[in-house]
Amino acid sequence: MSTYEDTRRAWEQASQKHVREYAELLDEARTARLLPLEEELLAPHVDGARVLHPQSGHGIDDHGLVALGAQEVLGLDYSPTAVSAARRRAEELGRPCRYEEVELPATGLADGGQDLVYTGKGALIWIEDLAAWAAEMHRVLRPGGHLFVYEAHPLVPLWEWDAHDARVRRDRGYFARSHVNDSFPALGATEHQRTLAELVMTITGAGFELLHLAEHPEPFWTPQDEEPAAAWDGRLPNAISLLARRR
Ligand SMILES: C[S@@+](CC[C@H](N)C(=O)[O-])C[C@H]1O[C@@H](n2cnc3c(N)ncnc32)[C@H](O)[C@@H]1O
Repeated sequence: MSTYEDTRRAWEQASQKHVREYAELLDEARTARLLPLEEELLAPHVDGARVLHPQSGHGIDDHGLVALGAQEVLGLDYSPTAVSAARRRAEELGRPCRYEEVELPATGLADGGQDLVYTGKGALIWIEDLAAWAAEMHRVLRPGGHLFVYEAHPLVPLWEWDAHDARVRRDRGYFARSHVNDSFPALGATEHQRTLAELVMTITGAGFELLHLAEHPEPFWTPQDEEPAAAWDGRLPNAISLLARRR
């Protein structure tokens, strides 16, 4: 059993990494770019944009968004450690990225003030009420604004982390509602599952028009010091990209 407070604590502890590795992350932020796929999809929408990044974590991607032409990025995260480290980095580099400590889905922002919501890379799985989250993103975006998500595929919790054999974990199910994280980074935190169909229906149901949805064999993140898992050998889906327009 893992409670909401256990999950928050796990994230607060995991976020200490942003402080321990402050210098490396600062260097990364200096020259950060989004992934080529993200740049291609976002290029038409990011120039001069006011961007909201919910569950912003270390916020390195915010520097990539600025490099792509964003006017400003506001990162929201409930971890005070993540927020203060990201804020310090942005100030040190003189980048137009601000960070606030906020417990999502509520953002406390005004209606329609954002041009783009950018999130993912391990963000949605922490949100229990995805419908409330999607409704909030719809509320804060201007009509015609965009929601972009580059995220782990909903099947990823099922893949066994085995270097030789791509197998489904016996203790996980695609239609399960949640499971407890038993690996890096937020050990002991509750992850909330939804199928790909549920994800799409929740976002379109909140008032978004789906412009792009793709499944990718590459995971959004791989550890550098471990052998790659067989589940990443190109036969299975490991990430999704989604772009939607606010009606
Ligand atoms: C994998 S991390 C960050 C993802 C981010 N895109 C990145 O690349 O750093 C997920 C973040 O979500 C935050 N988080 C999880 N649940 C949250 C909630 N309910 N409200 C605000 N932040 C939350 C955690 O504190 C953590 O920093």
